[in-house]
Amino acid sequence: MLIPQARGTLSERVFPQLTGGLEDTASAGLGRGGDADSRDDAAVTLWALQELHYRGFDDVDDALEWHPAVHALRWELEADLEARLRERHADLVPRPEDHTAEGLAERLFAMVEADDGPSLARHVETTATRDEVEELLRHRSVYHLKEADPTTWVVPRLEATVKAALMEVQLDEYGGGDPARLHHHLFARGLAASGLSADYGATVDEASAAVLEQNAALSMLGLHRRLRGAALGHLAAVEASSSGPSRRMARGLQRLGFAPEMVEYYTEHVEADAAHEQLAVRAICGALVEREPHLAGDVLLGAAICLDLEARTATDLLARWDRAA
Ligand SMILES: [Fe+2]
Ligand SMILES: [Fe+2]
Repeated sequence: MLIPQARGTLSERVFPQLTGGLEDTASAGLGRGGDADSRDDAAVTLWALQELHYRGFDDVDDALEWHPAVHALRWELEADLEARLRERHADLVPRPEDHTAEGLAERLFAMVEADDGPSLARHVETTATRDEVEELLRHRSVYHLKEADPTTWVVPRLEATVKAALMEVQLDEYGGGDPARLHHHLFARGLAASGLSADYGATVDEASAAVLEQNAALSMLGLHRRLRGAALGHLAAVEASSSGPSRRMARGLQRLGFAPEMVEYYTEHVEADAAHEQLAVRAICGALVEREPHLAGDVLLGAAICLDLEARTATDLLARWDRAA
């Protein structure tokens, strides 16, 4: 993968510096997060800086992953993203019972149940055109081609009970030792069978700011130990809001004659995520707050961020297609 196209003042300055090896700017730094002239510009810059921790770019030196100038800018962009997300969910206050495993589970399920954001899966099931679904799959590939990876950063930050439960979910996501069953491989196989590019990062230039921000938030939660509660709350909301929509996606893909491999990615998630939601909500988040009750608020925040950013992505895409949300 090559560094993405710049989308504004900040990325126009930062991306050539990254591909140039940061030789001239090692001490001067990469610039300020506030220099971004749009949400798109800030989102693509942050996404690229975080990507150095995953698979990197063919045109950027791997050594820059830990370059202080990269971290100074990433720090600012993530602080801004976190502040915006916390502000949007400032009214989300844990009740006393949310500090217990049972109370927290009930609250998390209630949040997912009450989520009334627009549903892309419902649109795909009923009325989407093939072009719209292909576009959606290209946007989704930014996430699904790494899928479980951002959550894996959290593993070393947990004590035994929570760690073991998280690894049970992650083992499934990574195919239980079989590379052919690995979820991001299943998605890649579905893309290829549908005539779409399955190359990692191939669609980033097309991804909307909402999609990039959704992915950047997930990486941010995974990469900061301080935010482990929110990372696991995010996981719980992903898993608890996946089974039904995956069924709808599968039906829509079948309606439009997509390749069985693409359908299979979603049918796999109908059953897998029905089990994962119980694990994520009870055995992971529930067990976490039993040990670290002060993280209850962040668990709820992570779940709210997940639902909120998915709603924003859906609203954005449906508006782009001129569809009612
Ligand atoms: Fe998965
Ligand atoms: Fe899952």
